[in-house]
Amino acid sequence: MVDKKEFDLIVLGAGPGGYVAAIKAAQNGLNVCLIEKEFLGGTCLNVGCIPTKTLISHAEVLNQINRASEFGIEIKDVSFDFAKIKNRKDQVLQGIRASLEGLLKQNKITILEGKGSFTAPKEIKVQGKESAIVRAENIIVATGSVPFDIPSFKCDHKKILNSTSVLELEKLPKKIAVIGGGYIGCEFASLYKAFGVEVVILEALPKILMTQPKVVQDQMTKIFTEDGIEIKTDVFVEKIDTSDAGVKVHLKDHDPVDADLALVSVGRKIVSDDFGLEKTGVEVHEKGWIVVNDQMQTNVDGIYAIGDVTGQFMLAHVASHQAIVAAENICGKRSKMHYEAVPAVIFTHPEVATVGLSFEEAVEKGYSAKLGSFPFQALGKAQATGDTEGFAQIVTDSKTGQILGAQVIGKEASSLIAEMALAISNELTVECVFDTIHAHPTLPEAWMEAALLANDTPIHFPPRKK
Ligand code: FAD
Ligand code: NAI
Repeated sequence: MVDKKEFDLIVLGAGPGGYVAAIKAAQNGLNVCLIEKEFLGGTCLNVGCIPTKTLISHAEVLNQINRASEFGIEIKDVSFDFAKIKNRKDQVLQGIRASLEGLLKQNKITILEGKGSFTAPKEIKVQGKESAIVRAENIIVATGSVPFDIPSFKCDHKKILNSTSVLELEKLPKKIAVIGGGYIGCEFASLYKAFGVEVVILEALPKILMTQPKVVQDQMTKIFTEDGIEIKTDVFVEKIDTSDAGVKVHLKDHDPVDADLALVSVGRKIVSDDFGLEKTGVEVHEKGWIVVNDQMQTNVDGIYAIGDVTGQFMLAHVASHQAIVAAENICGKRSKMHYEAVPAVIFTHPEVATVGLSFEEAVEKGYSAKLGSFPFQALGKAQATGDTEGFAQIVTDSKTGQILGAQVIGKEASSLIAEMALAISNELTVECVFDTIHAHPTLPEAWMEAALLANDTPIHFPPRKK
C-alpha cells in the first residue's frame, strides 16, 4: 500500500505548459508535485520544437555553404554525415533535459516519474518508475498532444513515419512523401530539401499552410516550388502500401505517388482520454480538448488545464503563458489569458512569422484596414548578406494607426516578429514604431519602413500612387 502524499498543487505533464506552471507556483511558495510519464520538457523539448530546430540549424549551415560562391568563396567537396547530425541533435536535447531537471529541483519541486491517473477530483494515482497516490486542492492538467495516427495508413515507424519517429533517422531517403502541408509538413519538407532529398508534399486542402494568411500561402508555395519541392494540393491520401522498395501513396481520384519513405503530418491528437478525467466531471469538448475559461479554470473547482490539451493554438509559448496565468490564479492573483498577440513562426527556409490579424481578418472584423508592406530587397542589411527574399508587413487600423497584425517572411523572421508582438500587446500605433530609432543597418528597420508606408510617408520606398 502506497502512502498518500499531500501537496498544494499537482501538475500532470511536464511539457512547456506543465513545468512552467510548476516553477511559477513553487516561486510563489506552493508545495508542488510534477508528474511525468516520459521525459521532462514534453513534446517541445524531446520530439518537437527543439529537435526540429536543431536539425534545421544544420540545414542552415549547409545552405550558407552552398551559397559561398556568391560571396567569392569556393568550397570544394562538401559532404555531411546525417548520423552525426542526429547525434548532435540528441546531445542538445540531453543537455537541456539535464538543465531542466536541475532547475525544477532548485525550485524544490517534487518530480514523480510515472503515469498519473485521476482516482477522484483531488487525487491522482501514479504508476511507473515511481508509485504513489498524491492529493492536492489544486490540479493543473497539462497532458499535451500526440501525432494523429490514421487507421487506413497507420505509422509502422519504418517506412511510414510520424514527426516523432522521423527524428530517429540516421540515413536520409532519396525521396520522401510528406502527407499534410501544415506546420510540420512544411518544416520537414524544407529541412529535407536542404539536405538534397527529393520532396513531394501531398495536401488535401487547396493550399499549403491553410491556417496562415493568403499572402503567406501564396508566397511559400512560390518559394518552395522554385526550390524544387513538389507540391500537390487538393489530393487526399487514402492509404499507403509499403514494400522493401519504399512506399506507394494512394490518392483519392489521382495517380499514386512513389517514394522511399512517407512522413505523416496530418495534425495532433489531444491527450484527454486515458487518465481518468471522467472521474472528475471536467467538461471535454467533442473534439477532445478540455474546456477552460480565460483564467485556465475548468468547470470543476480547483482543476485547471493548460497547453495543447486546451486545443488553443498548440504552440509551446502559448502553453507556457497559460501556465503562468493558471499558477497566478491558484496563488490568488487574478490573471487572464489574451490571444490578440500570439506570435507564430514556421521554421522553413525562409522563415515565416505572423502575429495578430491578417489584412483579410481585419477587414472582416470591420476595421478600416490598411497595409504597409516593405520588401527585404530594399534593406541595406539584406543586400549586404544577400538575404533579399521576403517582406515585412504591418496591418493597421487607418482611423487610429493602431497596429492590428504583422506578417514577415525572410531571414530571421522568427526574431523579427517579437517587436510586433510587443507593439500589438501594448496597443501601439505605427507612429510608435517609426518614431523608435532602429539601428542601421539591421533587418528590424523593415518594421520602421513598413510603419512609414502604412502612414503614407515612406523614406526608402516610392510614395504610394494617389
Ligand atoms: P506537451 O509538450 O505535449 O507535454 C505534455 C506532457 O505530458 C508529455 O511529456 C507527456 O508525456 C505528459 N503526459 C501526458 N499524459 C500524462 C499522464 N497521464 N501522466 C503523466 N504525464 C503525462 N511549438 C512552438 O511553439 N514552436 C515550435 O517550433 C514547435 N515545433 C514543433 C515541432 C513538432 C515536430 C511538434 C510535434 C510540435 C511543435 N510545436 C512547436 C508544438 C509544441 O511542441 C507544443 O505546442 C507544446 O509542446 C505543448 O506543450 P504542453 O505542455 O501543452 O504539452
Ligand atoms: P496541421 O494541422 O498544421 O497540418 C495538417 C495538414 O494535413 C492539414 O493541412 C490537413 O489538411 C492535411 N491533411 C490531413 N489529412 C490529410 C490526408 N489524408 N491527405 C492529405 N492531407 C491531409 O498539423 P501538423 O503539421 O501535424 O502540426 C500540428 C501542430 O503542431 C500545428 O498545428 C502547430 O500547432 C504545432 N507545430 C508548431 C510548429 C511551430 O510553431 N513552428 C512546428 C510544428 C508543429
